[in-house]
Amino acid sequence: MKTTISGIVFDAYGTLFDVYAVEARLEALFPGKGRALAMRWRDKQIDYSRLRTMSGRYQDFWTLTGDALDYACEFERVSLSATGRDELMAIYERLPTHPEVPAALQVLRARAPLAVLSNGNETMLRKALAGAGLAHLFAHVLSVERVRKFKTAPEAYQLGPDAFGAPAENLVFVSSNGWDAAGAAWFGYRAFWINRAGAPRERLGVAPEGEGRTMDDLAGFIDAD
Ligand code: LAC
Repeated sequence: MKTTISGIVFDAYGTLFDVYAVEARLEALFPGKGRALAMRWRDKQIDYSRLRTMSGRYQDFWTLTGDALDYACEFERVSLSATGRDELMAIYERLPTHPEVPAALQVLRARAPLAVLSNGNETMLRKALAGAGLAHLFAHVLSVERVRKFKTAPEAYQLGPDAFGAPAENLVFVSSNGWDAAGAAWFGYRAFWINRAGAPRERLGVAPEGEGRTMDDLAGFIDAD
């Protein structure tokens, strides 16, 4: 069925930006523990975003990301100096994109206007997009900071339809986080999951409409429409 695609909405961390790019620095600081720390840091960050939303205790994503780093280091029994912490947070502020992302966005932008919709607070998102030279590609940069609830809260996903003035069913939501693709599909978006890690599908009774391994697979999904 042909439908109008009024916009393409992207998650940021994990989808545009490689959140595990912190691993090399963590490994240099704490040999043998880089991977465990990078994984624990990310998992705890998402964990805290959910707990704070469920309990109505919003904290901006930058602060929460620092809290998650501190937790991960204590969990792995490593001592993070103030300098080391500053270095790691500075890397997080300017994370690299996944390699195919800039060229893929250029192609997609010719099909429909693009937006970012992220748990990241607006300052973080603007710095990351500017650092990667991507800021000019997006018509909207939407932070859940505006509603003080993290994804998968419906209020967070509602930012997309509000910005585009179009229903979610006319918007494609793109995430490499399986839970985020599921949340977007629940909300009513046409969800596309970039399953970079080859992870199993979430058992949540909902499936993304499309799935690929990199952002290059998204153009095919859009063109098949
Ligand atoms: C984001 C989180 C999911 O960018 O990484 O919203």
